[in-house]
Amino acid sequence: MAVERYLLPPDGADWRSLDAYRRAGGYEAAQRALQGLAPEAVIEEVKASGLRGRGGAGFSTGQKWSFMPKPGGPKPTFIACNGDESEPGTFKDRQIVERNPHLLVEGLIITAHAIGARAAYVYLRGEYVTGFRTLVTAVDEARAAGLLGSRHCGIEREFDVHVMRGAGAYICGEETGMIESAEGKKGQPRKRPPFPAVYGLWGCPTTVNNVETISQVPAIIRKGAAWFKSIGTPTSTGNTLYGISGHVNRPGVYELPLGTPLREIIEVHAGGVRNGKRLKAIIPGGVSMPVLSAEQVDVRMDHESLKQAGTLLGTGGIVVIDETACMVRAAIVIARFFRHESCGQCTQCREGTAWLYKLLRRIESGQGSLADLETIDQVGGYMEGQTICALSDAAAWAATGFLRRFRSEFEAHVHGKGCPLPESFEP
Ligand SMILES: Cc1cc2nc3c(=O)[nH]c(=O)nc-3n(C[C@H](O)[C@H](O)[C@H](O)COP(=O)(O)O)c2cc1C
Ligand code: SF4
Repeated sequence: MAVERYLLPPDGADWRSLDAYRRAGGYEAAQRALQGLAPEAVIEEVKASGLRGRGGAGFSTGQKWSFMPKPGGPKPTFIACNGDESEPGTFKDRQIVERNPHLLVEGLIITAHAIGARAAYVYLRGEYVTGFRTLVTAVDEARAAGLLGSRHCGIEREFDVHVMRGAGAYICGEETGMIESAEGKKGQPRKRPPFPAVYGLWGCPTTVNNVETISQVPAIIRKGAAWFKSIGTPTSTGNTLYGISGHVNRPGVYELPLGTPLREIIEVHAGGVRNGKRLKAIIPGGVSMPVLSAEQVDVRMDHESLKQAGTLLGTGGIVVIDETACMVRAAIVIARFFRHESCGQCTQCREGTAWLYKLLRRIESGQGSLADLETIDQVGGYMEGQTICALSDAAAWAATGFLRRFRSEFEAHVHGKGCPLPESFEP
């Protein structure tokens, strides 16, 4: 069935300018929402659409918006839009800000109407220089056209968008780490409660949403919740941007419905495993998510199917690994990332990420024992559900996921006192 795309422009089309975006129907949804729908009606429509956050956790967006206080409170309310996108394997938000920036601006205008926000702060990964420039240009154009600022879109309210460049750490993508960083402080997650809807940016009520999540909103308002729900599965609705990287012929970002079979994404859209090699493993949603084996390639890419398969959808960033790669080495690369990115506030995370890395290195170099494999599982267990943020859980899931799914390969390193695939990439 043909896929109806609404997040990215068709190949060859350039929607970056306000004129081009408007010619494609842009800002009609914002006008409709602001002039014809009460804020509660927008929230109800988004709830009814089943939209779930695209930043990793898959939380209901409409429900999150309804946690915000009613307008007219003592403090201003804000949107913190998360475009930090620093997880290896995840590069989808970049496509929106570089190729369809007005879609994000329109989504922010509708979101602000729904929750009564006075301003949105888009926190963009520092390395996204082109995306930053493109988005700032779009914001300036929207402001000049009266879509932002005081009396924006012809209504008696003020709303503006500010674009900030990220400070270069993965932890600045965690929602409260991002808030701290946006306030000019060290990017360290805050303890919750209070949650951002109560105490967010500068202590004011704040909704944190991912760039892609916000960019889904104009289509929901334009075409309706029922249309959105008809795409995907009953509980994972709408299209999403799957980023696919690793050993495939056509790595890239593909807009497809949630629930698309993983095999179809790899074989049809990404052109299959490169150099005629056999598939060995797939990380389905950014490197935080437990790895799948090649036998699981027929799983559908939605929240429920992936949970049943023992992993999670995460950000939909798919990493394909072929038969030439050593699974211990792959686990080391990921463990090193988490060790480096732990902010160090929680003992379980600070020490646990370092221990996982050391243990994996020992196994890879042929110095490990079978007891080390048990220790990896044990350390991972101590790291889950104990810490201020989920980086610790993610580090544990990644390492223990590789061990559980490819245990025989780990054991082969112990018994053979070294890597059975020495021609594999260097960890
Ligand atoms: C270590 C860590 C890094 C994260 N990085 C990002 C990120 O780069 N972008 C993002 O949208 N969410 C990221 N998240 C998830 C956010 O904390 C938050 O759940 C998300 O931005 C909420 O948006 P959503 O409801 O629209 O998905 C990260 C979470 C953790 C624990
Ligand atoms: S879990 Fe790790 S990254 Fe998160 S706050 Fe604790 S130490 Fe920092």
